[in-house]
Amino acid sequence: MKEMREQSPGGVVGSRRGDPPYLAPDYVATRLRAPKEPLIILPSTLSDTTGPAYGRAPVGELDNDLTRQHEGEPLGERIIVHGRVTDGDGRPVRGSLIEVWQANAAGRYTHHLDRHPAPLDSNFSGAGRCLTDDEGRYRFVTVKPGAYPWKNHHNAWRPAHIHFSLFGEAFRSRLITQMYFPGDPLFWQDPIFNSVRDEKARQRLISSFDLETTVPEWALAYRFDIVLEGRRATPMEDH
Ligand SMILES: [Fe+2]
Repeated sequence: MKEMREQSPGGVVGSRRGDPPYLAPDYVATRLRAPKEPLIILPSTLSDTTGPAYGRAPVGELDNDLTRQHEGEPLGERIIVHGRVTDGDGRPVRGSLIEVWQANAAGRYTHHLDRHPAPLDSNFSGAGRCLTDDEGRYRFVTVKPGAYPWKNHHNAWRPAHIHFSLFGEAFRSRLITQMYFPGDPLFWQDPIFNSVRDEKARQRLISSFDLETTVPEWALAYRFDIVLEGRRATPMEDH
């Protein structure tokens, strides 16, 4: 699904197609984790390319509805998030496993390391998955995640976002990115969003409001198309 990143002669790894670099100094954690030596590219083994991409548990019919995983409905603004996954030539990517994870409407993850003093929601786990159909389409129902603080710098807040993981036919083909919402006032101060240096590539991480798919009296819709390769590729994080 994606080629490995290029390496610069100095050993700091650069990126292709507007992907964020491993080292983005304003995003403080990358100062420690960015590789300082050139990467060693290991040859693929047979199991890398033919092994199953995910567990044997089949994707359930409701796995793409994050609002129906518990007894009650989660609090927050119900939304539909949908789009298409295509290759660089606009051809649909079928049968790709898409997994999403996100904070709840108050900006809190269901995770023991999340210490943000915002309420957990017993009706929201914040994770879902689905397979793309023959046209490369996917669809989730969820609630709009809240912004949350993250201590990267003074008064640092992440813009509302949903994390996306895509699998092709094998584990090695995993891609990870984040989807944002249009018009978020926090974009300018977020070093993760801005680690994608190319303005046009950055804009491709922002979903668009979709009135056509919005369901009257029920939920707003946002569209987020994902392009795996080429000039219009969606920026992906290191993985
Ligand atoms: Fe996050």
